[in-house]
Amino acid sequence: MNLADYYNKPRADIAFSYAPGKVILVGEHAVVYGSQAIAMPIDSGIRIAVLSHASSKGPVIRGVGSFFMGEISLSSDSSGPTILKEVLNYLIVAFGSKIKNLLFIVDGNLPPGSGLGSSGSFSVALVKGIYRYFSRPLDKMFEEYVLELEKIFHGSPSGIDHTVIMGEKSIGFKKEGGGCVSWPIALKKPIKLLVGVAGPHLGTKNAVANLLERKKRHGIAYQNIFNGLDSVAKEMEESLSKGYLAGVGELMNIAQGYLNALSVSTPQIEKLCSIARDRGALGAKLTGAGGGGAVIALLDGNESELLNSFKAAGYQSFITEVVG
Ligand code: MEV
Repeated sequence: MNLADYYNKPRADIAFSYAPGKVILVGEHAVVYGSQAIAMPIDSGIRIAVLSHASSKGPVIRGVGSFFMGEISLSSDSSGPTILKEVLNYLIVAFGSKIKNLLFIVDGNLPPGSGLGSSGSFSVALVKGIYRYFSRPLDKMFEEYVLELEKIFHGSPSGIDHTVIMGEKSIGFKKEGGGCVSWPIALKKPIKLLVGVAGPHLGTKNAVANLLERKKRHGIAYQNIFNGLDSVAKEMEESLSKGYLAGVGELMNIAQGYLNALSVSTPQIEKLCSIARDRGALGAKLTGAGGGGAVIALLDGNESELLNSFKAAGYQSFITEVVG
């Protein structure tokens, strides 16, 4: 059956999809330059309902949750994040005119722009929802569509975000020979994290581009840091598979030191890390692009005290669990 046949089949009135957010435990930024990284799906994410609508506005994205609130279309009276207009334009290119009468209702509990994979989660849920709406079985093109959407948000992503979000399993990840490899990491013990949002970040695209500029000035120093993060990732993988969480926490602290040296930390991130460590977290670090965004602290049973300490310091905070 070719694509046109799927589109011409009677379709569901409504299709629902969901994709989780993610945390990177080690290796953000360094992964862009070939170091190993570790990423995990979390129990917060984005859900999307896909249905048809009668409006002449063309496809519409309506945000009703934390990802965004409002309505974006390609019509002139639409306002809102222009990046979502780019998304709509891409969907029309990718899926053709069949997409034009669709309404995408986006809900979920992932804070946007915080390094927790909101754009990856949105991209995966969106494409999955379209496939379901048209009863199209998952195929090789699925990842390609997701990657193109990720490029709209991230520029040239390493691929770690959409890989962990699509697979919904903890992974080791590495760029290799023009592509990338990922492999499962079996967690011996459950991972519970306190998340504190240290303000909005400047966007992954900008963070990666700014780091590249600094790397051009300090090539050897930056390469040494990437090598250091690579060995932290290898050691962390071993600690995770043995269930040695105290070791994982120490390695998160080391990773944060490297990230600070790469100038992607901020005073707010450092403050949240030090509150978490003082109050007994096993380790703490930023996750994702940095320059703001989320701090994750590895918990060891002292969750409410830690959660309250982040809240008392004035930061949006919640507890999340790794789900794969
Ligand atoms: C963003 O979640 C992770 C970065 O390493 C960018 C990337 O890998 O594409 C900062």
